[in-house]
Amino acid sequence: MNLGIATLVSLALLLGAWVEAQYVATDHIRVFLFGQTAYFSEVAVDLHNNTCLSLDNNMIDGKVHSVLVGGHDIWDVYKRDDEWYCILYDNFDCTGSEDAMITVAGGTNNLGTVGWAQRVHGIRCINDD
Ligand SMILES: *[C@@H]1O[C@H](CO)[C@@H](O)[C@H](O)[C@H]1NC(C)=O
Repeated sequence: MNLGIATLVSLALLLGAWVEAQYVATDHIRVFLFGQTAYFSEVAVDLHNNTCLSLDNNMIDGKVHSVLVGGHDIWDVYKRDDEWYCILYDNFDCTGSEDAMITVAGGTNNLGTVGWAQRVHGIRCINDD
């Protein structure tokens, strides 16, 4: 019985590692964007290293409220041991000085509290490996 449970736990861990591998790789990472009512509107985007992703024509443009980098829930994000981080921009081409951007390494659950609830229009992620 104990062996059975241990095997199940191992399988679950393996599956977890596999799912994680789908989201994070050397050359790309998946980022989950959530709208105002966290799980109501959700968009997953795949970003390549140091490439600007414009949210122009994306339904979540200007509505991003929460962000998870490299995992679909906080536990997956906690388990990451890579060097990816993302920069959110208040413009579509990921330009501007520091007041036009905000850096997110793992995730943020309330951009509203820092005045960024309606501001995200572009994303760039960097693998600082
Ligand atoms: C990702 O891009 C940054 C900026 O150009 C570069 O410094 C870094 O080495 C790149 N990472 C990888 C894994 O190639």
